[in-house]
Amino acid sequence: MKVTSSFVCQECGYESAQWLGKCPECGEWNSLREIKNEKFKIQNSKESRDGDIKPKTLSEIKYDEKTRITTGFSEVDRVLGGGVVLGSVTLLAGDPGIGKSTLLLQLGLHIANKKFEVLYISGEESEEQIKQRAMRLFDKINPSFFVVSITNTDAAISIIEEKKPAFVIVDSVQTMESENLSGLAGSVGQVRYAAFSFIKLAKLLAIPIILIGHVTKEGMVAGPMILSHMVDTMLFLEGEKTTGTRILRGLKNRFGPIDEVGIFAMEGQGLRELKNPESLFINKNNKKIPGSVLTAPLEGTRAFLVEVQSLVLFSKSLVLKRIVSGLDRSRVELLLAVLQKHARLPLDTTDVFVNVAGGFKISDRASDLGICLSILSSLKNIPLSNTVCIAEVGLLGELRSVPFLDKRIKQAKRLGFRNIITAETHRYIGEVVQQL
Ligand code: TYD
Ligand code: MG
Repeated sequence: MKVTSSFVCQECGYESAQWLGKCPECGEWNSLREIKNEKFKIQNSKESRDGDIKPKTLSEIKYDEKTRITTGFSEVDRVLGGGVVLGSVTLLAGDPGIGKSTLLLQLGLHIANKKFEVLYISGEESEEQIKQRAMRLFDKINPSFFVVSITNTDAAISIIEEKKPAFVIVDSVQTMESENLSGLAGSVGQVRYAAFSFIKLAKLLAIPIILIGHVTKEGMVAGPMILSHMVDTMLFLEGEKTTGTRILRGLKNRFGPIDEVGIFAMEGQGLRELKNPESLFINKNNKKIPGSVLTAPLEGTRAFLVEVQSLVLFSKSLVLKRIVSGLDRSRVELLLAVLQKHARLPLDTTDVFVNVAGGFKISDRASDLGICLSILSSLKNIPLSNTVCIAEVGLLGELRSVPFLDKRIKQAKRLGFRNIITAETHRYIGEVVQQL
């Protein structure tokens, strides 16, 4: 066995034979670390083949619908495509403190209450801390819920092998480290080794394993980004920490839909599913206040009604403020230019603040018109808070139709809104403005 080493970027996983100051892949400085690789001699190819492995025709391959465990949260089950698939590995990524441990603890306790053995492996918190939190979340805890506080990957693997639980949670993959390789916990090598070991075991024992992965301020970290290629399913838990709303998104799913979302509220007793999240995203008391307009972005297969709020103020300053939260700033700037040109709004002399209520983040272009009208509403002091706007706005000021319009209109009507502006009711932004 020959030992060589290579240098791996801790941000993006780029591998190089020599040390480099700057990663050519992601541009990060000083991110390459040395990793020892053990090179094995290539075995005799026949030896490496287990006796009865041979290619099959498609009709010889048995296919059965993967058996799933339901989690007790219908929002989580929907994001996963009907529950956790046996033998699958799921990565739950998100900012520190967003509620990943809370969500998985609740999920584990639910599953344990259905008499499945659940093992919660924690490298972050002590067994006492987990017990305290569990007691806060659940009144009655089933004895089939087990906790172990450990950071050694190989020891964790051997505990799972011995115990063979029905469901495993690893909190978090970045705290797991093995003595089999150099590098501290959280380094690319360790994270990759841990994930690889858990994935192999999940497939071997047909146990579903959920790994928690932290994301750094910059967005994605080494861990989750590299892991996303290895795991079957990747979920993202996000939200503003200051508001209680949490959104669970499916970013990758080998066994179900992607882009599906589940909406939760973080409360004193953990996360609560929100079946009607509009109660958080719409403020019904705003009726007479200008600057608020409703829009209906699509998240996964669902349409939500969300309130866009704007504040437009005349400014004498040469540098105008454009402060945006919950929306793409460059999209808002583009819409401001369209409004200036095609609706003749004097936005070159104003500060503009735009915000999405309730901590929701919108990336759906169908909200363009909502953004435009909330800006107009504030600028002209016209209250429009019971108006729902569903259209993309083009550079020529034209309203464009959006996918699944029926679904969005249905949701608006279901919540009692009748005043709905779309590309079917108006053709140009100028037309909409003139009629207000
Ligand atoms: P946690 O699950 O520890 O976050 P993560 O594992 O993603 O780092 O959640 C931490 C936050 O959640 C913490 O600020 C306290 C809050 N919280 C509640 O509001 N209610 C609860 O019932 C629990 C358990 C936590
Ligand atoms: Mg945690």
